[in-house]
Amino acid sequence: MDIDAYLRALPKAELHLHIEGTLEPELLFAMAQRNGVKLRYPSVESLRAAYEFTDLQSFLDIYYEGAGVLRTERDFHDLAWAYLERAHADGVRHAEVFFDPQTHTSRRVPIEAVIRGLTAAFREAEKAWGLTARLILCFLRHLSEEEALETFDQARPYLDHVSAVGLDSSERGHPPVKFRRAFAKARAEGLKAVAHAGEEGPAEYVWQALDELKVSRIDHGVRCAEDPALMDRLRREETPLTMCPLSNVKLRVVETIERHNLKSLLHAGLRVTVNSDDPAYFGGYVLDNFRAARAALDLQPAELAQLARNSIEASFLPDADKRRLCSEIDGLPSLA
Ligand code: HPA
Ligand code: ZN
Repeated sequence: MDIDAYLRALPKAELHLHIEGTLEPELLFAMAQRNGVKLRYPSVESLRAAYEFTDLQSFLDIYYEGAGVLRTERDFHDLAWAYLERAHADGVRHAEVFFDPQTHTSRRVPIEAVIRGLTAAFREAEKAWGLTARLILCFLRHLSEEEALETFDQARPYLDHVSAVGLDSSERGHPPVKFRRAFAKARAEGLKAVAHAGEEGPAEYVWQALDELKVSRIDHGVRCAEDPALMDRLRREETPLTMCPLSNVKLRVVETIERHNLKSLLHAGLRVTVNSDDPAYFGGYVLDNFRAARAALDLQPAELAQLARNSIEASFLPDADKRRLCSEIDGLPSLA
């Protein structure tokens, strides 16, 4: 088995994936056409050419614009199905998928259409390949906590389909503590919590996500390396970091992938995982992220297996499923 086959064969859980960020330009154009939405780009090529970002906000502006073509339950189904086909081909066995209800309800798309469409595709993928997928409902942090609470109320009839709440969008100036009550409410309903922190924001936001929002994982967490006491805590509490190397390069969180700190954090004993974030915008799905990180950081098979094992352990899967997938990892032939 060569290294590429090995990476594909490793059972992986994808834990940091925005479903709206899997909207490939071809599908975006097809949806615009069938929904009668006018785009300011004349072609797929010209849209793709606009994917040049200087920071998180420059990406978010185009990402929210792209999501404007998603209108119907069928659109959300087709979006999720296209992602799951690709994830299956990459050896993803379980996915915990972010969605941004406010991006859609603000355009008068009912949350029911969003959740029904996505979960219909999830059921089909489980039936076809045994690939399980669950939803993480994200609050947009540039909006108010009041709006987050309203969104949570709208989602209440569908909470059976939701594993956790998350926090995304523009990080700087929107600290986790702003959403303390919304997260407490979600946790009181039995949901888990995760939050983007330490992507562009400071290590202080990672502390807040842990202390104020009581999150089970940190999404990104790149900047935790600036704070040794935080590193200690993340190691002691085995808090997973869902890292996204290609995203961090595109949004200039790191200068080059060779400078990414995922390997040093892994060696420091943190529970690092590799994920794709917004693969249609950042140039690669989860296997591409593994390949790029391996090449740039000279990751060895044992380190790659550890990253895959971490993803399974860090997931919200039942323990029996975690054990089964981890023993599959242990049973893979070792690379010569
Ligand atoms: N960071 C914050 N918000 C997001 C991202 C991200 O990487 N992707 C989609 N929404
Ligand atoms: Zn993200």
